[in-house]
Amino acid sequence: MKKHILVIPGDGIGQEVTTWGKAVLEKIGQQGGHEFTFDEALMGHAAIEATGTPLPDETLEKAKASDAILFGAIGHIKYDNDPTAKVRPEQGLLKIRKELGLYANLRPIMLFDELLGASSLKPEILKGTDILFFRELTGDVYFGEKKRSDDRNTASDLMIYHRYEVERIARKAFEAAQARTKRLCSVDKANVLEASRLWREVVQELAKEYPDVETEHMFIDNAAMQLVKNPKKFDVVLTANLFGDILTDEASQIAGSMGMLASASVGDGTGFFEPIHGSAHDIAGQDKANPLASILSVALMFEISFGLKEEAARITSAIDKVLKDGYRTADIADAATDKSKILGTTAMGQKVLEYL
Ligand code: NAD
Ligand code: IPM
Ligand code: MN
Repeated sequence: MKKHILVIPGDGIGQEVTTWGKAVLEKIGQQGGHEFTFDEALMGHAAIEATGTPLPDETLEKAKASDAILFGAIGHIKYDNDPTAKVRPEQGLLKIRKELGLYANLRPIMLFDELLGASSLKPEILKGTDILFFRELTGDVYFGEKKRSDDRNTASDLMIYHRYEVERIARKAFEAAQARTKRLCSVDKANVLEASRLWREVVQELAKEYPDVETEHMFIDNAAMQLVKNPKKFDVVLTANLFGDILTDEASQIAGSMGMLASASVGDGTGFFEPIHGSAHDIAGQDKANPLASILSVALMFEISFGLKEEAARITSAIDKVLKDGYRTADIADAATDKSKILGTTAMGQKVLEYL
């Protein structure tokens, strides 16, 4: 199979971890059967510095011309602490999601048994958890009209959903539920928000087309609580953009760390594969970031964009073996970890390549 992949490292640890996602792609290419070609492009703070804009036209053109995109993370502390900045790294990510029609963000909560002790939650609560989040990605309060009054004292972001936007992601989630344990939980705030009432209405209507799927509706506040109380009760979780953003960072603690959660953003065209974490200013440039989320994002690319299930499984199994042999990055180490096996980003990336 011949595929052209655009790599967008972005900022901070995005650059560090993407090196290893790409290295895994290269290694699988060298192992035979597939030819992967690469291009690289700027986004986020790196792009603002070089071109003045967080998503240069060139990046978008390269993205549209590729078969899949491997993205790292964007963000810079300068903007986090300056709410008045008009041009911001995050705008690049939001724009590329919109331009590529990436309306469905799949965030699997995959739990490696070896990491049961790495979580802040009790192993007996976690064991056996396997959740697939469908986070809507191109609507909601993220893309509704933003306003600030002339006196700067009033601000608003419009939470808006159209029926077709709810319907298309809900269909994907129902189809995934059919292929899994046939349970779907739709999370909203329909007791308060009109956009959520539309969401619930649409999901209820669609549920009639999937009678084999057991559909449940839950309010976001309750879902946030249930997720740590009894994560096993969830299988496919369908939710809106903002709720999904927050719930999946919370759910990363089930898998042990933000550094373990990969994601696939899909929709109308080229698939976009990204860890759920950000540029992590607190550890950037220190060779501390866990590269496994980026490497697992490559496994999702193989499975979802290329239909290469065997290669995807090879990646997951290499990670599993690395963990079984006791190797950890600092974020997933626990009291039982042999200190000499706590690796930096580079050594962990190399370990996975070695086991692949
Ligand atoms: P973050 O995800 O960058 O970091 C949150 C915490 O998780 C930090 O303590 C960090 O050290 C840790 N962490 C994250 N990834 C890790 C990894 N691979 N290995 C080990 N530890 C890891 O979130 P934040 O601190 O709220 O945001 C930092 C910047 O990133 C902000 O500018 C934000 O806008 C941006 N951001 C970007 C994305 C993205 O590009 N998709 C996602 C979230 C945040
Ligand atoms: C994510 C991030 C982004 C989001 C930000 C950086 C725009 O938190 O990918 O989860 O909120 O979608
Ligand atoms: Mn997020």
